[in-house]
Amino acid sequence: MKNIRKVVIPVAGWGTRSLPATKNIPKEMLPIYNKPVIQYVVEEAQRAKIEDVIFVTNRDKSVIEDHFDYNLQLESVLERAGKLDKLSEVRAVAEMVNIMSVRQKKQLGLGHAVLCARELVRDTPFAVMVGDDLMFGGVPAIGQLIEVAMAEKMPVIGVMEVPFEKISRYGIIDGEEISPGIFRVRSMVEKPKRENAPSRLAIVGRYVLTPDIFGYLDKVTPGHGGEIQLTDAMQAMAQNRGIMAVRMSGMRFDAGDWAEFLTANIYFALQDEELRYELLALLKNFVQFQ
Ligand code: UTP
Repeated sequence: MKNIRKVVIPVAGWGTRSLPATKNIPKEMLPIYNKPVIQYVVEEAQRAKIEDVIFVTNRDKSVIEDHFDYNLQLESVLERAGKLDKLSEVRAVAEMVNIMSVRQKKQLGLGHAVLCARELVRDTPFAVMVGDDLMFGGVPAIGQLIEVAMAEKMPVIGVMEVPFEKISRYGIIDGEEISPGIFRVRSMVEKPKRENAPSRLAIVGRYVLTPDIFGYLDKVTPGHGGEIQLTDAMQAMAQNRGIMAVRMSGMRFDAGDWAEFLTANIYFALQDEELRYELLALLKNFVQFQ
C-alpha cells in the first residue's frame, strides 16, 4: 500500500445539535480554548505526516479554508504592533498543510460527503477524519490507523468502547480480535438499538480507506436517517475484500455534543500553565455556590 498523504475531512453538515451557536458559524470553527475545533483535527493529520487536506464543504463554510490561509492584513498589523509571537502563530496555521476543497451541494450524509471527494482522491489510499471529532493521546489517532493499514494492506477503521446507553448513537462493529486491539471486522451496523448491537465497539471519526470505497458508496441507498451512510458502504466492503478495526487509545471529544465540547475546553485550558491556577480557583469558587 502506498504512503497515506491525503485526508478527506467532511465539514459540510448542518450542525443542528449545536444551534443556535452554529446558525452562522460552522461547528468546526467553534473554539476549544484558543483554537477552532478544526485546527486540532488538522494538527493531528499533520503529526501523522499527512500533507494534503481535502475539505468537503458547503456554501457557508469558506471560513474554514480561510483559517488555513495567510491573512496578510492581519500579519502586517501584528508586525507593526511588534506582536511577533502571535504573528508566527497565525502564519504557522497557514503553512501546516496543502488545502483543497470540494462542495457537497446537498447534505446527504457522511458517506455522500466522502463520495464528493472522489475526483480529488483519485486512485490512492486515503484517510478520512470527521471534522468535529477530537482525539488526543500520545500517538496521533489517525497515525495508529495508518500504521496498521500499511502493515496489513487493508482499509482500517478506528473504534472505541462506548457505554451501553450510548450505543445507539454510533456505527457498531462485530469483529474477531486477531491481536490485542486489532480486529477483523465481520460486520457493522449504523446506530443499532442497544439490545441488538453486536458489541460496544463504536466507529469513531477516523478511517483509512482504499479508493474502491467509492464504488461501494455509488451503490448505497439512503439508510439510517435517510442519509447515505459511510457505514453501509464499509459493511459491503467488509463482506468482499475485508476491513480491519483498531481500538484506539487516547481521549475523544465529540465537539457536536455540548457536554463533551465544554469538557474539552476545560481540558485544554488546564494544559495552559498560566491559565490553570486562575481557572481552577474560579471553578472551585463556582462549585461552592452550586
Ligand atoms: P454529524 O452528524 O456529527 O454532523 O456529522 P452534522 O450533521 O453537522 O451535525 P448535527 O448532527 O446536525 O448536529 C459528522 C461530520 O460529517 C460532516 C459534518 O460536518 C461533521 O463534521 N457531514 C455530515 C458532512 O460533511 N455532510 C453531511 O451530509 C453530513
